[in-house]
Amino acid sequence: METKTTLDRALGVLAGGCDSPVRSGWGVSAPMFVQSGANGAYAFDEHGKRYIDYIMAYGPLLFGHTHPALVRGLDELVAGGFVWGCTHPEEIRLAERIRAYLPSMERMRFVSTGTEAVMSAIRVARAFTRRNLILKFAGNYHGHFDLALLNAGASAHTSDAKASGIPEGVMRDVVVARYNDLSSVDAFLADREAELAAIIVEPIVGNMGYVPPEPGFLEGLRERTKRCGALLIFDEVITWLRFGLHGAQARVGIVPDITTIGKIMGGGAPIAAFGGREEVMRVLAPAGSTFTGGTHGGNPFSIGMAHRVIDLLEAHPEYYAQMRSLAERLAAGIREIFRERDLPYAVVQTESIVDFKFRPGHPNRNYDDAVAADKSRYAEYYKKMLARAILLPPSQNEVMFVSTAHTARDIDETLEAIRASL
Ligand SMILES: Cc1ncc(COP(=O)(O)O)c(C=O)c1O
Repeated sequence: METKTTLDRALGVLAGGCDSPVRSGWGVSAPMFVQSGANGAYAFDEHGKRYIDYIMAYGPLLFGHTHPALVRGLDELVAGGFVWGCTHPEEIRLAERIRAYLPSMERMRFVSTGTEAVMSAIRVARAFTRRNLILKFAGNYHGHFDLALLNAGASAHTSDAKASGIPEGVMRDVVVARYNDLSSVDAFLADREAELAAIIVEPIVGNMGYVPPEPGFLEGLRERTKRCGALLIFDEVITWLRFGLHGAQARVGIVPDITTIGKIMGGGAPIAAFGGREEVMRVLAPAGSTFTGGTHGGNPFSIGMAHRVIDLLEAHPEYYAQMRSLAERLAAGIREIFRERDLPYAVVQTESIVDFKFRPGHPNRNYDDAVAADKSRYAEYYKKMLARAILLPPSQNEVMFVSTAHTARDIDETLEAIRASL
């Protein structure tokens, strides 16, 4: 009898063999990486082979896979069960802790995923302004609900909106501008300012490679939303805690009206949140007439994990310097290899994010740059690195994440693999 491979079994029962298309390997024309375990900075494939992991679950694993402070004593954390369906003191305390770091989140609500957080934030913005139009940016990824998917970055493949199941009605009320380009924002707003409910933006982008905002860009969005009576939503699902406890908003010095957070905050457990000015969040029921809610929102398990994450960062302020120094070592090493080989690619690094694209010239500034990078070259590189036991994201729109679990030795092994692969 023929034995089925894991891949065959996956394809036989999971749609497309996976729960998130990027995992299928279609972005790099490679077979799906099937993972059987993880430890610290390492992922293990189904045969038990060890890989240095730079996917880090697409962002959440700031401390690697199995930081003892996060995985120990889970029985105590769930002594009272996983989900209650009632508000509880630890949930209130978590919101207070978050607000102390992100004062713009005067009132907030917990949900389970970044998708839910952004979807809810958009509804609140529309209810508050009593307008429909949303302006977003090509190459920014905000989750997998209808509006968010138009021209989304990361590894979303929804260029044909109709075939993607996004209703025409939704498309009428969203415009997609170019990141780092205020003139493209102005062109869209020219005759629709009065319809604008909100501009949503990743203040620092991690979904079309790593793209920081250019001076004046976010300030320009803040000024335009104020002028139009619209709201500014910062999607900090990747950036909160990646760029410190005060998030990207403190780094860029701009206060948004609504913020969404997720990923790292749960230490691997599913939890996210959205929140903003008190008068804005008042549109939510029971005070207002806008509904959001969920069975798992604020469940004591995820809330407890989020406390552990903040505890850990408060106890170890040195973690950020540690990750930055490893990321700098990695970026400097890659730059050196490019110099040796005369390769014309720019390497970017901020805090624990390292990124380069197979496109000569300046680093990505917007989605046009991201799509101009050489996909087949990246696919070849991905496969060669995998063969050398380095697990990179299977899509050129993602970035490399360094964690507190990575070591200088891991970085040096990675550089050797890069040198050999290129
Ligand atoms: C900036 C940003 N917003 C929202 C999301 C959606 O979060 P989730 O995958 O938890 O639904 C993501 C996921 O990658 C993201 O990067």
